[in-house]
Amino acid sequence: MKEEIINLLKSTNREGMNKVIEFMENNDFFTAPASTRFHGATEGGLAEHSYKVYEILKHKVENCVKEIQVPEESIIITGLLHDICKTNYYKTDYRNAKNSFGEWEKVPYYTIDDTIPYGHGEKSVMMLTEYIKLTNEEKYSIRWHMGFSEPKENYAPLGLAFKKYPLALLLHEADLEASYFYNT
Ligand SMILES: [Fe+2]
Repeated sequence: MKEEIINLLKSTNREGMNKVIEFMENNDFFTAPASTRFHGATEGGLAEHSYKVYEILKHKVENCVKEIQVPEESIIITGLLHDICKTNYYKTDYRNAKNSFGEWEKVPYYTIDDTIPYGHGEKSVMMLTEYIKLTNEEKYSIRWHMGFSEPKENYAPLGLAFKKYPLALLLHEADLEASYFYNT
């Protein structure tokens, strides 16, 4: 999975992509979970989720009911990197729980330790643009990938962004499908 992700990112030939890959490898992108308990809450969950979103997004762009033109590299970048904000975001803590013998023991669980409190989609955009240039379509898509789980005060710009950039809507849908259909 790690190798496939790296190869796809390299295939975009985006200037600075090696720095993004270096960042992912030197931090916990490939071992982090995708959430604390909802989907992909296991080691490597973030990488698995990201790859699944990319696969679904590619399928969605190619089979979209409306004909849209999206460069392959944008599908790769938005699909694989929309959640890069979750790097260095989770940590393991321990709580007491009873095991099957009724004995108390310490059990690990994931908790959030947000060291870069800049939001979610907007944080991914910020982190990526430290290394690579993103097209506007990529920026808007990553920024709004959480769709209608944004606070409702954001629905107006969100709706405008989905109209302007169909990729943003498809990325949101792919994110939902990866979480609910595949639990990744
Ligand atoms: Fe996300």
